[in-house]
Amino acid sequence: MKHSLPMEDRPRVRLGLIGCGEHATSVLHNAVGFIDDFHVVGVCDPDAGRAQAAARRFGLSEYHDSHESLLKEARPEAVLLVTYPGLQPKLANTLLQAGVHVYVEKPIVMSEDDAETLRQTVSDHPALIAAVSFNKRFSAHYRRVREITCGEGFGTPNYFHFRFAGGHRAKTWALLAVGAIHGFDMARTMMGEIEEVSAYLVELAEGQADISANVRFRSGAIGQFFLSSMGFWSAKGAEHMEIRSNQNVVTLENHRQLTWQGPPLDKSASDTTQMQKETPSFAQYLEPNYSNISAPEFQSIAQNGYLQPLQAFAEDILSGSRRLPTLEDGIAALNIATAIDQSMRDGGRPLRVATV
Ligand SMILES: NC(=O)c1ccc[n+]([C@@H]2O[C@H](COP(=O)([O-])OP(=O)(O)OC[C@H]3O[C@@H](n4cnc5c(N)ncnc54)[C@H](O)[C@@H]3O)[C@@H](O)[C@H]2O)c1
Repeated sequence: MKHSLPMEDRPRVRLGLIGCGEHATSVLHNAVGFIDDFHVVGVCDPDAGRAQAAARRFGLSEYHDSHESLLKEARPEAVLLVTYPGLQPKLANTLLQAGVHVYVEKPIVMSEDDAETLRQTVSDHPALIAAVSFNKRFSAHYRRVREITCGEGFGTPNYFHFRFAGGHRAKTWALLAVGAIHGFDMARTMMGEIEEVSAYLVELAEGQADISANVRFRSGAIGQFFLSSMGFWSAKGAEHMEIRSNQNVVTLENHRQLTWQGPPLDKSASDTTQMQKETPSFAQYLEPNYSNISAPEFQSIAQNGYLQPLQAFAEDILSGSRRLPTLEDGIAALNIATAIDQSMRDGGRPLRVATV
C-alpha cells in the first residue's frame, strides 16, 4: 500500500546552497540533510557537474550556474555560502543587500576593506543574519574544554597554546586568514581578547611556512600559536590546543582526545627543592568510541561542530533569536591574523591587535 506524505503545515526555511565543492558536499550538505527546518529550494555552482549532483541529492529538477539566477528563480530566504575564501566577502555582501540571511563558511572577511563594506551592509540590514562558520565553538570536545576551564577547580587560565599544521597553501597569508582563523577564534572563545602579538616566520616558498607567535591576552594570560603549512593534514597532532592554570592542564589533541590533569593529590611540604615528591592526581581522559555510530558521516558533522550551528541558523531565522558567531567575530579573528602577519614580516616586532 502506498501513502501520500502529509501536507507540510509548519514553516521551514527556504534555503539556497551556493558553492557545491568539496567541503560543501562532503560535510555541510550532509548536515543540511539532517535538518528538517530547511527546505532546499535551489543549488548553484558554475561547475555544472557539481551543481547537478547537489540538485539530485536534494530532489531538485533544476540547478543554477550563478547566484543571480538562484536568487531570481528559487527565491531563497537564506543561503549557505561555501565558495572561495576571497570571493565569500563580496558574495555575502551582495546576498545581504538582496535581503537574504547568510551562513558563510570561514573566512567571512579577508581584508580591512571587506570588513568595512560588510559592516555597513550588516548595519543597513539589522534583521538579517550574517553568520560565520566557526564550527569548533560547537564541537562537544572544545565545549568540554571550556566547561573545564570555566568550572570549579581549574582556577584562572594563564597559558594558551594552539597548534595547527596542515599542508601546503597557495599563499602564506591563507594559512593565517583561512586555516588558522579557527585557532584565533578558539583563543578568543577560551581566553578572551588578545592584545599584543610578536611573531616569527620560516618561509621556504610562498604558501610553505612555519609561524610561531607569542601573544598576550587582555586578562594578563600569555599564549603561543604554532601554525604551519609545511605539515600534513593526516598527521597525528596536526591540531592541538592546551590551556594551563596554576597546577592544572587540559589538552585537546586532534580535536578528539581530551586530557585534564589537576594538582597532585599530595606533595612534599617544601617548594624549594626541584625534586618534589608528588602523588599525581588521576587524569581525566576522553576519547570517543567510533565503533558504534550508525551513520558514519555523523561522526565529523556533529563532533566537529558543523551540524549544530546550521540547526541554530534555521531556528534563529524562524524564531528571531541570534546565537551564531557574527561578522564582528570574523573581523576580530582577522585582526589577530593581520597583526601576526605584520609582526612576522617585521622581524617579530611586538604589535597591538586592532580592537573591534
Ligand atoms: N570550517 C571548516 O572546517 C572548513 C573545512 C574546509 C573548507 N572550509 C571552507 O569552505 C570553503 C570551500 O572550500 P572547499 O575546499 O570546498 O573548496 P572547493 O574549491 O572544493 O569548492 C568551492 C566551490 O565553489 C564553487 N564556486 C566558485 N565560484 C562560485 C560562485 N560565484 N558561485 C557559486 N559557487 C562558486 C566552485 O566551483 C567550487 O565547486 C572555503 O571557504 C574554505 O575555507 C571550511
